[in-house]
Amino acid sequence: MDFQNLRITIEGYIATIKIYRPEKRNAMDPNSWAELDQAVRQLNLDDDVRVIVITGYEKTFVAGADIQWIHERKPLDIYGLAVQDVLLNIYKSYKPVIAAINGYALGGGCELALACDIRIGSDTAKLGQPEINLGILPAGGGTQQLTKIIGLAKAKELILTGDIIDAHEAKHLGLLNHVVPAEFLMEKVFEIAKKIATKSPIAIKMAKIALNESSTADLSAGLALEKSLQAVLFGTEDKREGTKAFLEKRKPVFKGE
Ligand code: COA
Repeated sequence: MDFQNLRITIEGYIATIKIYRPEKRNAMDPNSWAELDQAVRQLNLDDDVRVIVITGYEKTFVAGADIQWIHERKPLDIYGLAVQDVLLNIYKSYKPVIAAINGYALGGGCELALACDIRIGSDTAKLGQPEINLGILPAGGGTQQLTKIIGLAKAKELILTGDIIDAHEAKHLGLLNHVVPAEFLMEKVFEIAKKIATKSPIAIKMAKIALNESSTADLSAGLALEKSLQAVLFGTEDKREGTKAFLEKRKPVFKGE
């Protein structure tokens, strides 16, 4: 896959998307969002990919949406901007997405991390929604997703002050799953990605659908969905292999069938 603002590698079922806009601290212009959308869609169709990692070039994850672009836009232009759709597509991606946050994750960069399933930060990571300083609000899902992850009170504080927090505070708030020294970031990310890649891709897909619904569905609808997805899994070759391997005291080999 050839992209202007992304660098993509695939190795051992793990695809790594590196946001690459060095001169702008990886800030996302419309073309970058469109490329990211296309990349995630293509990787979701690729049987050689079971986990997607998103990271940023050099020492920044993503410094937000492109402020030059925002500066030049008029009110209704926002409706032509597909950032929410791109991030929803990542949130709903059948393949789990891990954010490897290697530095600043601000504004749309923080929202990109929020759309991912697991967030691992280097100890140099800094996260925040500083849109309020520009006279706007986080409109890539920030007001909705941040609330779900860290709770309403802390989300209000971060969004209304525009404060930027360090990796340790982000971990304390539950915004980061893990914090590791910068030089070990990708090692930790790959450790988790590899673990997920050894599981049944169908079970991973179904589990993610059920988990995502937990924040919107009421309990009885969520439980019914959970049971239905389990019924689907009970018919898979992967379920036969997983249970058989346990009984035979060996490691399962899941084929996604
Ligand atoms: N949009 C457009 N350009 C951006 C950008 C953004 N979100 N973030 C950084 N850049 C550009 C800068 O304008 C600068 O361009 P220049 O070299 O032409 O002057 C270049 O990237 C380097 O940025 P700089 O601020 O010099 O780097 P730094 O290491 O001192 O600071 C940040 C890094 C991320 C802290 C700082 O760039 C910043 O605060 N960016 C904006 C964050 C933000 O408000 N995001 C929300 C947007 S909705």
